[in-house]
Amino acid sequence: MMGAISKAKQWHLPNNRGSYETAKPVQVRKTAVIGGGTMGRGIAISLCRAGYDTMIVEYDQKGLDACKRELDLTYKREMKLKRMQQGDVDKLINGMKFTLNLEDTRDCDLIIEAVFEEMVIKKELFKKLDKIVKPGAILASNTSTLDFDEMSSVLSDRTRLVGMHFFNPPHVIKVVEIVFGSYTSAQAVATAFATCDAMKKFAVLVGNCPFFVFNRLLFVYLAQAHKLLYQYGIMPKHVDAIVVSYGFLMGPLTMNDMNGHDVGEKLKKEWNIESSPIEKELYKRKRYGRKNGKGFYRYDPKTQKKEDDPEIEGIIERLASQAHVNMQLYSDSDMIEFLFYPLVNEGFLCVEEGIIEDESLVDLMFIFGFGWPPATGGPMRWGRKKGLRRIAGRVAHWHILEPEKREYKISKTLEKIFRQPYLANL
Ligand SMILES: NC(=O)c1ccc[n+]([C@@H]2O[C@H](COP(=O)([O-])OP(=O)(O)OC[C@H]3O[C@@H](n4cnc5c(N)ncnc54)[C@H](O)[C@@H]3O)[C@@H](O)[C@H]2O)c1
Repeated sequence: MMGAISKAKQWHLPNNRGSYETAKPVQVRKTAVIGGGTMGRGIAISLCRAGYDTMIVEYDQKGLDACKRELDLTYKREMKLKRMQQGDVDKLINGMKFTLNLEDTRDCDLIIEAVFEEMVIKKELFKKLDKIVKPGAILASNTSTLDFDEMSSVLSDRTRLVGMHFFNPPHVIKVVEIVFGSYTSAQAVATAFATCDAMKKFAVLVGNCPFFVFNRLLFVYLAQAHKLLYQYGIMPKHVDAIVVSYGFLMGPLTMNDMNGHDVGEKLKKEWNIESSPIEKELYKRKRYGRKNGKGFYRYDPKTQKKEDDPEIEGIIERLASQAHVNMQLYSDSDMIEFLFYPLVNEGFLCVEEGIIEDESLVDLMFIFGFGWPPATGGPMRWGRKKGLRRIAGRVAHWHILEPEKREYKISKTLEKIFRQPYLANL
């Protein structure tokens, strides 16, 4: 694992655009986070804890008040969970500044935006920042999906924009994807790496593509988990229990409820991705997950404890009774293969597309960011231990049965293995 951690730090941009060996980060002292919502607040906590001068910029008083109120609740929750002491909270309260005036970013060295996920809004913001920030300052975006090349088109110096894709909650999750576009300079990447280092985050350089690496793999996994419900009629608690008994902290449906189905609904609409039958039912019934007390489970309003919900179980039974199942799953271990083999395949696709340099980095991202059991070495190593010939055979078979499903688009690596005559257990 240590080898892979060092490998992540030894990043290279393609076409000799620079690397960890040659690039010098900007000296960061003063930082600003634009947007004090879910992500902005957690990013600001991470920056402030790392010792940077930190400022949150909101665009109206209502937003600023909500941001402060939510920060207060976060501090209380963190102390209850014993992840923060009163002394840590005092430092954050005293260290963090707030403003409604974007001009206050004028002397910041690093400005990270976490405003709404809309290209028009982000471009408008960067257009303004371009006129305000000092030369040499690095601009970062926490976008999950938007194209960096289009975003940077409004900047007079396009090389200073880099992606810093944090995961929710950003002050807890250790992984950050550092995203480069066609114009991102090695200095901007080096600055993002140095800042992640100071925040004690594990950073991985990834290329500019919709959803980047982590979410691409995650979405494939969730698509498979949903199929277990609406095609096979397996109940959420059973799917989650199989994954937990395999060594994970949490099952996919509990995780999905935590992330919020409204986020998924919005993304699918924007990207014109067809929602699965079970997702359509969730969206129709506004079952957005833990945040509004019902998703794949229902949540006790007082204790937040999750319970089975007869309403969703009835829906699952109805959908499964109408489904045409193409393949049989006989055991828990068949279900583990069904859930995770397409995810491993997606990891190979990302490497082949040049979105990530090495499969060992996918492993680390999933160990640090997803709770993948470290003893298995992460998804890609787990896949190799299972046998790539076996995975290739399964994914190719599923692709033949359901060629329209993008989660079965087979990677070249697996296809080559699938087509090879049997020589040895690869
Ligand atoms: N929520 C997640 O799980 C998650 C994970 C990774 C990345 N992201 C990305 O992070 C970004 C923010 O997401 P979020 O979930 O925190 O959204 P959010 O809606 O919780 O927060 C956005 C905040 O930005 C503020 N804002 C909007 N326009 C502004 C402007 N021009 N100037 C200053 N403030 C402005 C809003 O008042 C709001 O407080 C998005 O790009 C999103 O795709 C979200």
